[in-house]
Amino acid sequence: MSPAVDQYGVFGHPVAHSLSPFIHGVFARDTGQQMTYRAYDVAPEEFTERVAGFFADGGRGLNITLPHKIVAVEVVQELTARAAHAAAVNTLALQGDNVLLGDNTDGGGLVRDLCDNLGLIITQRRVLILGAGGATRGVLAPLLGLEPAIVVIANRTPERAEALAAAFADLGVTQGVGFEYVGETPFDLIINATSASLSGDIPPIPAGAIGPQTVCYDLAYGRSAMAFVRWAQQSGCVRAVQGLGMLVEQAAESFRLWRGVRPQTAPVLAALKARIGSV
Ligand code: ATR
Repeated sequence: MSPAVDQYGVFGHPVAHSLSPFIHGVFARDTGQQMTYRAYDVAPEEFTERVAGFFADGGRGLNITLPHKIVAVEVVQELTARAAHAAAVNTLALQGDNVLLGDNTDGGGLVRDLCDNLGLIITQRRVLILGAGGATRGVLAPLLGLEPAIVVIANRTPERAEALAAAFADLGVTQGVGFEYVGETPFDLIINATSASLSGDIPPIPAGAIGPQTVCYDLAYGRSAMAFVRWAQQSGCVRAVQGLGMLVEQAAESFRLWRGVRPQTAPVLAALKARIGSV
């Protein structure tokens, strides 16, 4: 028998500092949805079993965060096209016919933040993505959907950038390079999708890649984004932004998938900026 209140949550490891319970709690309150949302610390070796257990106990949907996003592809019966492109799942939703659907709302969340919250125009603009790991793969399809003039993927290990550029070439103009081959023509948007900030490193791109019109955006937020955001500010870009907006927007996309209603994101984004920092 299903519990009276629909249950949702996030599986991660570690997960204690996840902001998702706060975000979805506000969404549920603001939209009048009867639901709970909890964070579950799930070790990699128990992931598959815990997912099965959660839904067997009447759970309706899960967010999936690090380190489980890739293996989550294996536990679903259906994948959305964007999750298939990302080769990663950040949202599980139990469909009416008991089919478990895997979606990836990360790229959609980024695009919403860039276009709706920050008011950027990406179409026909030059975009540089730093990094060629899972975070980059997760956002490439929705980003290319905006039809930028080019997306250059630059990575410490150039072969990974080249492979990603080739894998997404059918969706738009892509190029994969090492950092030193990024060029001196300024980009309109530079997205940091590396985990370099965690060790205080900044990808060594040519100074000319940043101009007075360049917007710099870190997919991470808080302490993890600090090194890149500070470096970008000092490099003379027009704006340096951390990924809090993406976090809130990807959550809103998941919430809409689960509940059929899209919550307002501005109030919760303002609350998080006050808590974490306003860039
Ligand atoms: P994620 O899923 O967060 O993208 P990942 O798949 O491990 O994690 O990818 C991490 C990315 O950050 C990679 O592009 C990695 O570069 P390599 O492919 O060369 O390993 C990049 N990265 C990590 N530490 C870095 C550093 N100190 N300087 C530059 N790039 C770094």
